[in-house]
Amino acid sequence: MEFAFTILSYLCSLLYFLPLIFVAGILYDFVRYKTLSSASLLKKHVVITGASSGIGKSFACEAARRGANVTLVARNVDKLKEAEIEVKKCCIDPMQGISTFSVDVTQSYSVIREAFAEIEKEGGPIFMLMNCAGTAVCGILEDISPADIKNMTDLNYHGSVFPTKAVIEGMKSRGEGHVIFTASEAAFLGIYGLAPYSASKYALRGFAEALQMEVKYSGLQVTVAFPPDTDTPGFEIEELSKPRETRLICQSSGLLKPDTVAIKIMNDALHYNMKRYLMN
Ligand SMILES: *[C@@H]1O[C@H](CO)[C@@H](O)[C@H](O)[C@H]1NC(C)=O
Ligand SMILES: *[C@@H]1O[C@H](CO)[C@@H](O)[C@H](O)[C@H]1NC(C)=O
Repeated sequence: MEFAFTILSYLCSLLYFLPLIFVAGILYDFVRYKTLSSASLLKKHVVITGASSGIGKSFACEAARRGANVTLVARNVDKLKEAEIEVKKCCIDPMQGISTFSVDVTQSYSVIREAFAEIEKEGGPIFMLMNCAGTAVCGILEDISPADIKNMTDLNYHGSVFPTKAVIEGMKSRGEGHVIFTASEAAFLGIYGLAPYSASKYALRGFAEALQMEVKYSGLQVTVAFPPDTDTPGFEIEELSKPRETRLICQSSGLLKPDTVAIKIMNDALHYNMKRYLMN
């Protein structure tokens, strides 16, 4: 009896430490957050596809803020030039090189390989590849054209796989590198009105998970992000064709700002988190 009481009072006295543990937890998170947000990419070459708008452009700015030399990749030259001006404003050093490269990542592998060889010739070995090019066409299956269905596979899946294939050997030989994939919440569960889109993002997730195993012991890091709806030009276009059911389902995860998403992805990549599940 006496013994049980002693144990009990001992346990109770531990409760006094709870606030202390709580404060220590907050402090730890704060320090971790500070370290993460200042992790440097000084003089590293960061390449981003789909960089002329949305999450890609925000990510390019975030890389520039951390001192990287950044190459923006997209199709449209005018939009690239506009994005370049914005990204230059994010630089912390006038010596940082910000450049653009126009290529359609849905082209054949030989075109992609040549494009990336050119990008590395101009800007040096690629330290980080952010695959951000993607598109969503919404609607029930009867309403989506075969061309759009194929387009989503070409762009969302092959459009990330081919650039990755083009850089992976170089990264392995240097023993360092980050490859990032931008999947979607729809890579976890099929969403009404997004069947071909969900499928393309599931494919990307499977690819990223397998690739992570392949490169783990070469010093490379694969990160895959699953953002919910993000307030981008692409999102605005999707909204036009989005069935009511799709909107209701997607709305439940909220609408994030591209900057918020980009910063979280960057922190995860630099902190070797394989996955970013919860964006909110
Ligand atoms: C970064 O870009 C600048 C300007 O183009 C260039 O002078 C510099 O050599 C680049 N840094 C690296 C590490 O490639
Ligand atoms: C494929 O998607 C891109 C990006 O949204 C679009 O510009 C292009 O016209 C589409 N192609 C087809 C065949 O629908």
